[in-house]
Amino acid sequence: MPIAVIAAMPEELAGLRSVAERLEPVAAHPFAVVRGRIEGVDVLLAECGIGKVNAAALTQALLGSGAQRVIMTGVAGGVDPRLAVGDIVVSVDAVQHDVDVRALGYEAGRVPGEALLAWPADPLLHAFALAAATEVAAEAGVRALSGRVASGDQFVADPERVAALFAEFGAACAEMEGAAVAQVCARWGAPFVIVRSVSDTADHAAEVDFRAFTVLAADRSVAVVRGTLRRVHASVGADGA
Ligand code: ADE
Repeated sequence: MPIAVIAAMPEELAGLRSVAERLEPVAAHPFAVVRGRIEGVDVLLAECGIGKVNAAALTQALLGSGAQRVIMTGVAGGVDPRLAVGDIVVSVDAVQHDVDVRALGYEAGRVPGEALLAWPADPLLHAFALAAATEVAAEAGVRALSGRVASGDQFVADPERVAALFAEFGAACAEMEGAAVAQVCARWGAPFVIVRSVSDTADHAAEVDFRAFTVLAADRSVAVVRGTLRRVHASVGADGA
C-alpha cells in the first residue's frame, strides 16, 4: 500500500513530482492526486493548499484511498533560536498552537476530547527522516533538528509570538498544516512524520525571507523525503508494508 506524501504549495511538491516514475492520476475528488514510484516506493503525491482544514481534508481523502502512512513536507518558520534559513526540522510530534479553549480550563493548544496535546510522529518514519535529514544537512552545511512542529492558521511574522511558541510549546518550527495531518492520522492509527525546511525565522523579515527562500528550502525538504523513502525501501520494500 502506498505512502502519501503531502505538501501545501506547488513549489513544495514540484521536486518530488519531477523524480517520480510511472505517474498516473488517482480519483480523490476534489484533490488532484497522482500515484507513482519514488526511490522504489509506491507513493501518492498531493497538494492540499494552505492551512489546517485543507490539510485535514486531504489526509482524510488519502487514508480513505488506501494510503498507509503519511509524510507531510515543505517549508516552515524557524522558532527554535538555533535554527536559520535552510535548516531542517523532523517532527517528534505536532501541536496546534492556535487552539485556545483556556476559558474552559484546557491548556493552550489542547483540543477538547483529544487525549494528547501533541500527536507523536511514528518512531520508524522519524528515525528514517532524521537519518536522511542529517545526511542532507551535512552535505549542505546546515543543521538538522528533531523537534516539535507547531501548526496554526497564521503566518507567524512576529518575534514575540516566536518567543511564546518556543516558551509555551517548546516548538522547533511553525507552519500551517502538520498538526492537522497528525490529528487525522491519529484517528486512523496511521503513522506519519513531518519534514520541514526553514524558509524564514518567523520574525519581522519573515515575509521577505519566505518569498526569497521558499524554493531553496522546499528543495531541501524534497531531498530529505527522498532519503526517507530510500530508507523505507531498504527496510521494508516497495509497498512500505
Ligand atoms: N511557513 C513558512 N514560514 C512560516 C511562518 N513564518 N509561519 C507559518 N507558516 C510558515
